[in-house]
Amino acid sequence: MSNMLEVADLGHTYGDHEAIGGLSFTVRAGELVCVVGPSGCGKSTLLRTISGLVSPTRGDVSLHGSHLAVVFQDYSRSLFPWLSVQGNVEFPLRSLPRAERRARAAEALEWVGLSGAARKRPWQLSGGMQQRVAIARALAYRPALLLMDEPFASVDAQTRFELEDLLLRVRREHDTTVLVVTHDIDESVYLGDRILVLSGSPARLVADLEVPLPAERNQVTTRTDEGFVALRSKVARLLNVGKPSMDVEKWAAAERESLSETVPS
Ligand SMILES: Nc1ncnc2c1ncn2[C@@H]1O[C@H](COP(=O)(O)OP(=O)(O)OP(=O)(O)O)[C@@H](O)[C@H]1O
Ligand SMILES: [Mg+2]
Repeated sequence: MSNMLEVADLGHTYGDHEAIGGLSFTVRAGELVCVVGPSGCGKSTLLRTISGLVSPTRGDVSLHGSHLAVVFQDYSRSLFPWLSVQGNVEFPLRSLPRAERRARAAEALEWVGLSGAARKRPWQLSGGMQQRVAIARALAYRPALLLMDEPFASVDAQTRFELEDLLLRVRREHDTTVLVVTHDIDESVYLGDRILVLSGSPARLVADLEVPLPAERNQVTTRTDEGFVALRSKVARLLNVGKPSMDVEKWAAAERESLSETVPS
């Protein structure tokens, strides 16, 4: 399999804050790679440097394909409220002839099951549907690489499961290469062919793990599979999850105190 993305010794520093410190990894064509790491470690910065929104302070990013698309967490801010759903999906295709733009948008809306909502405005849709519009917009662009930053973090648990399966289906049907940032360990194992585990700030690569699960995933059976459970524990250990830090303890004590002040026992 050829490499779609090569990241070599990538680093980014904001002022005197080193957000990412020398990351190297590759993403092969057709792969779905998840990136997990502690809050604030530099995951979004990594995606921003890969997408070119931010120029890296050091290192290189090479993309072996002409273009990429990004899906952000906050769908409510990423869709234009004055455009219809169809208009939103067509928006990045402005340089194409009108008929082709229409056809591509209609096709992408069909992939995500939203053909019936093409004429609606985003604000008339549920959060999960709005995020499907954002995914359709990215797919209509036919990116060589799809970058997603916590794409399902703002929806309820059941919608999240549906969107995860939607992503797995479209990447399989359309051979899309995907890099997904998530803070959800279970999600990274459920979605990924591989998981990149990052350390706290500055982000460094702690592990690059293959996911030893069949390509076909199922929300009920996969999540109870032995391989799934073992890998999610491994990622959790690598991230030090469950080890209470001083700050959390202090915060919990303060919470108890403030509760005992306001709630008569
Ligand atoms: N534009 C900016 N200017 C200065 N510092 C920034 C900027 N953007 C991010 N940072 C800092 O860089 C670090 C990494 O931020 P980033 O948003 O990449 O982390 P993250 O892993 O995506 O966080 P989260 O889990 O909250 O999404 C943080 O300490 C953040 O405060
Ligand atoms: Mg982020």
